[in-house]
Amino acid sequence: MAKVYIETYGCQMNVADTEIVMGILSQNGYENIQDASSADVILLNTCSVRDNAEQRIYGRLNNLNKLKKDNPGLVLGILGCMAERLRQDLIEEKKAVDLVVGPDEYRRLPEFIDHAFGGEKGIGVRLSRTETYEDIAPYREDGLQAWISVMRGCDKFCSFCVVPFTRGRERSRTLSSIVSEIEDLSARGFREVTLLGQNVNSYNDNGNDFADLLDASAGVDRNIRIRYTTSHPQDLSDKLLHTMAEHANICNYIHLPVQSGSNRILELMNRTYTIEHYLGLIEKARKIIPGVSFSTDIIAGFPSETIDDHIMTLDVMRQVRYDGAYMFKYSPREGTKAYKMDDDVEEEIKLKRLNDIITLQQSISRELNQELVGREEVVLIEGKSKKSDKHFSGRTGTNKVVVFPAEDHFTIGDYVNVKIERVTSATLIGSVV
Ligand code: SAH
Ligand code: SF4
Ligand code: F3S
Repeated sequence: MAKVYIETYGCQMNVADTEIVMGILSQNGYENIQDASSADVILLNTCSVRDNAEQRIYGRLNNLNKLKKDNPGLVLGILGCMAERLRQDLIEEKKAVDLVVGPDEYRRLPEFIDHAFGGEKGIGVRLSRTETYEDIAPYREDGLQAWISVMRGCDKFCSFCVVPFTRGRERSRTLSSIVSEIEDLSARGFREVTLLGQNVNSYNDNGNDFADLLDASAGVDRNIRIRYTTSHPQDLSDKLLHTMAEHANICNYIHLPVQSGSNRILELMNRTYTIEHYLGLIEKARKIIPGVSFSTDIIAGFPSETIDDHIMTLDVMRQVRYDGAYMFKYSPREGTKAYKMDDDVEEEIKLKRLNDIITLQQSISRELNQELVGREEVVLIEGKSKKSDKHFSGRTGTNKVVVFPAEDHFTIGDYVNVKIERVTSATLIGSVV
């Protein structure tokens, strides 16, 4: 039995894809192992979203090539978004790997690996309009939390983003296949399911939209929490907000990337909304779903961004008061529309603006946590706290980590009410009531 080790980079879609890849490989007689040094096949499931993501992976490839010198039979492969973006380069110019397989060709992996054992290099980077892997059982260890990719690809073409090129066109899995996967997870004792897509709320299965999917998913098992990510402001419908409000087990948490606070920059980014529209959505969501919390993605230093544009971004952050944010420096990606624009914000200024954004977000997160002191939160117990095995750690519906003293009458996988007593910038600390 050949042993396969996979390392996963990038977004949660890649994490879910790795489980699909392992599902395919284990059906074909491969064994999944956790240790690169004893593997016959090493696969990196890669990310291209920013240059630094790719640089990290190149560094790792260099290391692994040393392993290959000692063990020439070792098969080294690149999966995921870099496979799609760099294609032959990875095999020919860099001579670094034996196989390069993009996100829509994972079914052919057993064949590629077989050929690679025979010394033949392989490349499979065709994108598909239909592949969703819905018939593949992902390889999952038992646990509490599972990812399910419900749609693949992206049709939005934000001008900075490589994803539409690496993941291809949007396509959705059938609602019934997702519901039956959640039923299986329920039977195995899972307690949380995150529905995934680059634009999860443009899900569409023959007229069933994302709200319909959420409604059906939440109905499977009321003890399973449903989360989802990522939503695009364009597709955040009233129906979706009402569906979230109707089900106690759909988490009151929306990741809603804003990217910039300036309408001029948003237009250059091809984001299809204005800040006024975006803020209107937030206000409406807060009315329909009391207590809903938001997180976001922000890019600092997009081409032509002025100090005024930057101040508008900080203003939006103050108005929305996000629970959390993923914050990035703009990174030009070949092939995208923005790549043709002059990357004219100096590195130093990009960095300074990014730091402003990070500092502001930290202080907002701290304030929001502080406001929770004295409140009760429903917490799903996920495990012992990292720092002390006399404490449990879990998360609220709004995705905050809570630590509290462990007692005998509850255990991992239970929901408990915790009164918050104090907070740090990252953690809430309390006790069960
Ligand atoms: N589909 C998701 C996320 C895609 S990638 C969405 O649309 O929200 C995750 C985040 O990476 C993006 O939201 C964006 O903030 C950031 N990102 C994408 N391309 C980037 C680039 N070229 N430079 C810097 N950040 C980028
Ligand atoms: Fe990229 Fe925009 Fe698609 Fe998100 S919506 S994956 S940022 S193109
Ligand atoms: Fe990265 Fe591809 Fe995900 S570029 S962010 S791994 S879709």
